[in-house]
Amino acid sequence: MRVRITVNDRVEEHDVEARQLLVHFLRETVGLTGTNVGCDTSSCGACTVLLDGESVKSCTILAAQADGAAITTIEGLAGRDGSLHPVQQAFREHHGLQCGFCTPGMVMAAVSLIAENPELDEAGVRLGLEGNLCRCTGYHNIVQAVLAAASVAR
Ligand code: FES
Ligand code: FES
Repeated sequence: MRVRITVNDRVEEHDVEARQLLVHFLRETVGLTGTNVGCDTSSCGACTVLLDGESVKSCTILAAQADGAAITTIEGLAGRDGSLHPVQQAFREHHGLQCGFCTPGMVMAAVSLIAENPELDEAGVRLGLEGNLCRCTGYHNIVQAVLAAASVAR
């Protein structure tokens, strides 16, 4: 079937198999490999993107279900001049990553979480990101980064 999905402000129109997951559409059809696949079973959050502004695990929905929607991936966060998004900047400043595999999903989930509630406290960050797993167990610095980014957004 043919889908028309706006990805990072660019319209992507492609023929896809009805069973193709959104994450595979992004990585293989569109060629944006910043969105990672950690589990393929909706457990890890490495594949998190924004769908019409809300975070979604892109291995849990079909590309066909995103037909007509606007997707933002990690590649679409930075400014056109290359300046980092405040959440990316905060992860950098607070060392909110180790190997970096979970980072795109963590950042996208944090962007959505902060947009929903910039008044987040530590418990709120931990609860809001509980669907995103980090194999390096770098949660402390991730939480500090998200709190810092939230304070900038207030
Ligand atoms: Fe989607 Fe793990 S790859 S939740
Ligand atoms: Fe390695 Fe999170 S930084 S999985």
